[in-house]
Amino acid sequence: MSTNEPRAPLESEVPEVIGFLDHILRPNRGWSIAAEYPQVFAPPNRENLRIVKDGDRVIAHAATKFLIIKTQLGLFKVAAIGSVVTSPEHRNLGHSRDIINSCLQIAEEGCADFAILWSDLYDFYRKLGFELAGREVSLVIDAIPTLPPNDLRILQSSKVAPEAVLRLYGGHPCGTIRTAEDIRRHLCIPNSRTYTAWDKNNQLLAYAIEGKGADLKGYIHEWGGGVSALLPLFAHIRKDLNQRITVIAPSHAENLIRQLRQWPALVHEGYLGLIRIVNERNLFLKITRRARQLGLREFAIEKQGEHVRVGTPTDMVTLSTQAEVTRLIFGPHPDGTLNPAYKDLFPIPMWIWGWDSV
Ligand SMILES: CC(C)(COP(=O)(O)OP(=O)(O)OC[C@H]1O[C@@H](n2cnc3c(N)ncnc32)[C@H](O)[C@@H]1OP(=O)(O)O)[C@@H](O)C(=O)NCCC(=O)NCCS
Repeated sequence: MSTNEPRAPLESEVPEVIGFLDHILRPNRGWSIAAEYPQVFAPPNRENLRIVKDGDRVIAHAATKFLIIKTQLGLFKVAAIGSVVTSPEHRNLGHSRDIINSCLQIAEEGCADFAILWSDLYDFYRKLGFELAGREVSLVIDAIPTLPPNDLRILQSSKVAPEAVLRLYGGHPCGTIRTAEDIRRHLCIPNSRTYTAWDKNNQLLAYAIEGKGADLKGYIHEWGGGVSALLPLFAHIRKDLNQRITVIAPSHAENLIRQLRQWPALVHEGYLGLIRIVNERNLFLKITRRARQLGLREFAIEKQGEHVRVGTPTDMVTLSTQAEVTRLIFGPHPDGTLNPAYKDLFPIPMWIWGWDSV
């Protein structure tokens, strides 16, 4: 076995791996990357980390974290990949390609439906089979909105019972399955602000999280609760931070999006991330099951040789690239490109909240 082959670090190597990542990705920060991604670098996930060493030095790394996502279609297993880095003096030697492929193997062996990552290196990841897909709505709140008075008490503090946050989080139709312990760890992420809205009986009505370590400054990437409490909460955050804020929302959060459009807020439609289908068979079975529930009795999506055939016997379409299949399943679909018969089937509802990005 070549010493340059990606492998999981030994327990004794983990501090060195984190030191390597902090040195390149978080120089001069007052915290470690391990604090930003508490579950990625926790001992139970060590087997899903990949490193390449040159002699006794770590020279490349990437992490995989499995997420179980609840959606209206049922559960999806997703492999989120992140902290992809090669030391500057070892770049362009194929280390990251090997490491990502190793992460994809972890994903496949772990029966993930698809892998996802967040990056602006589109060309780099396209070569590895990832495609920009899925949908995300960003609502940019620039002006301070004037809202009718309310009797909410708004706090900025991460000292909030994780169980109370979990109760509101549970109201989302789409998101990873979390425990109160998961939320407790997320609440400790550095360089992040937790805002909460309470009624006069001290009931938590809404929460919103801004920032996440080195990322998402000015972005509300996690929120939960009723729209009537979220709106004054966002207005408060805009005022408190004294800067433009951007609320990130899944496209199915229709009521919130409709209300925020009236503030006014600038609305941008973006992608959920760079997605690569890992287990086509699983994914196609879930989609077919959903099609049956929707009454699409003859619908099929299946692999045929190198291609994917999708539709009914009378309107079968052949997709020849992975990118086309990924875009069909996760969207977005530019106006007029999706057969109207499948408007309830595609894109499949999929969303990953900010705390779960890797
Ligand atoms: C991006 C990065 C991880 C690439 O690592 P690497 O080990 O040099 O990459 P590889 O040598 O495996 O490159 C694989 C392929 O991608 C290409 N590639 C490398 N860096 C690229 C970049 N920044 N943009 C586009 N393509 C790139 C290579 O030319 C190679 O192409 P080929 O297969 O046609 O020969 C590395 O430059 C890095 O650590 N950058 C800083 C951290 C970062 O931006 N991480 C990504 C966060 S998601």
